[in-house]
Amino acid sequence: MKVFKCKICQEGYLGDKAPTHCPFCGAHQPYMIEAKDFGIPGYKLTDVSRRNLEEALKLEIGNAEFYFCAAGRADNVTDATMFKRLGKIESEHASTIVKELEIPLPDISREKDMCNDANVDNLKESHQREDSAIKHYTKFLGEAKEERVREIFTAIIEIEKDHLSLTEGRF
Ligand SMILES: [Fe+2]
Ligand SMILES: [Fe+2]
Repeated sequence: MKVFKCKICQEGYLGDKAPTHCPFCGAHQPYMIEAKDFGIPGYKLTDVSRRNLEEALKLEIGNAEFYFCAAGRADNVTDATMFKRLGKIESEHASTIVKELEIPLPDISREKDMCNDANVDNLKESHQREDSAIKHYTKFLGEAKEERVREIFTAIIEIEKDHLSLTEGRF
């Protein structure tokens, strides 16, 4: 068994080989590296990236709260499981972002009424939210000069594209 560490969320993973996706943030396998090789060089955040990360944090918290709400209203086990996991992944993205901003993680509520009553409407809204996140993060990536910020947005765009595919053709 080996010790791996995710370059995006910085969580650990114990296993014989790197998972296809980080179980915490969903980053793809190339970001799962052996802990002994892990290191993030220090850097200074530009004002533009600070603003964009703050915007991204709001999006991730909103999406996490939406998914926890949707999980509670799902009408089948698969979607309840999927929405709950998506809520945890988007929460992990929020944790990832606050590490770069060096600020505390704001509260993420699991009880807010911020989703639809019908499961199918939540599948549709999931798709819209992921699509919107991808568009925002693509813009933020284009504006980022710092290697670390570019790495984070690149990885999170890939993850949100995975999430988009989950609801494709479902509504
Ligand atoms: Fe991760
Ligand atoms: Fe997502």
